Amino acid sequence: LFTAIEMAPRDPILGITEGFNADQNPGKTNLGVGVYYDDNGKVPLLACVQKAEALLIEKLAPRTYLPIEGLAAYDKAVQELVFGADSAVVQEKRAITVQAIGGTGALKLGADFLKRFSADSAQVWISDPSWENHRALFESAGFTVNNYPYYDPATRGVNFSGMLNALQAMPSGSIVLLHACCHNPTGADLSDDEWTQVIDVVTQRGLIPFLDMAYQGFGDGIEADGQVVRRFTEAGGPLFVSNSFSKSFSLYGERVGALSIVAASKEEAGRVLSQLKRVVRTNYSNPPIHGGQVVATALASPELRKLWEEELAGMRLRIREMRHLLVKKLKEQAPGHDFDFVTKQRGMFSYSGLTKAQVERLRDEFSIYAVDTGRICVAALNTKNIDNVVAAIAKVL
Ligand code: LMR
Repeated sequence: LFTAIEMAPRDPILGITEGFNADQNPGKTNLGVGVYYDDNGKVPLLACVQKAEALLIEKLAPRTYLPIEGLAAYDKAVQELVFGADSAVVQEKRAITVQAIGGTGALKLGADFLKRFSADSAQVWISDPSWENHRALFESAGFTVNNYPYYDPATRGVNFSGMLNALQAMPSGSIVLLHACCHNPTGADLSDDEWTQVIDVVTQRGLIPFLDMAYQGFGDGIEADGQVVRRFTEAGGPLFVSNSFSKSFSLYGERVGALSIVAASKEEAGRVLSQLKRVVRTNYSNPPIHGGQVVATALASPELRKLWEEELAGMRLRIREMRHLLVKKLKEQAPGHDFDFVTKQRGMFSYSGLTKAQVERLRDEFSIYAVDTGRICVAALNTKNIDNVVAAIAKVL
């Protein structure tokens, strides 16, 4: 059985962490994976999480199975966060939400559901470039995955006319994966006006939008970052939204995400949910309990919710400071190079423009790990490691 099996390549993102973990250099830095570290280089355990966990420990509740769709309080909290408590789709019960194993799990549930129920000919379109796992994930669900133009290296922004033309040429029923905020990997987001045009084309052409929102709160704030989702719901039509609390609650290993689907009516939503539950049941039966309880507890308590928003704002602002510091220091150390674009990018990442060869030198000569595409995680920079990183970048440029 196993003799002909070839070695699979390392995962382009998590494989970097494997290499980083094996590196014996005490001065190593991991700018690969999208994880937020504080200024001491530690993954924070948020105070709102600690307080929610203390409340849960007091209850000492038994660990029975969750319903297939997850914890009801969690699913409700997700809907209010993603769509807004007052949104028509929530009020009219047209939106359904299932707890998922992280944002990745939510994408996979959506992909499996779509493979079963979308037209046989339907193909998936992701941005060029996109999160490394998007293509693999939809391909593993059985889809043909295509790219639509997105990033323009010349302007370091979005090739919007290219994107719009591609959307206009897609067959009706195509599935379009869009990043609701903080585009991963480029950090280049659409403007409000550009979103209006995208929503118009998607709606008019009968495309199926799938919004991936793994970084809500890391752009401009929770409300502001959720606007794109809300605008899509107002346009009508089916909608898929995957979201994640890995980063925003610093709960990476708990795998807390959700998939929400908006249908045309409450009755239709009921049928959709019944089928989505089958997808869950045949994959992992029902989700794990702890992370969902932590998030639901924190979001249900006005005090903890406020604390969470403050802590999330703290992370957002620290990343912004690191962007400015990185640009300032690169100006000093590498004066011939323009890195101003880094301060315009949003979210955790900077598409730095470093080439694969430069990334390899950073790794081999300086134990600084980044994604081959040049994506670096700005959220992993801090006032202690930044000089080292800047000096190394200046040397490889
Ligand atoms: C990333 O892009 O680094 C994160 O979303 C983590 C992951 O699973 O790849």
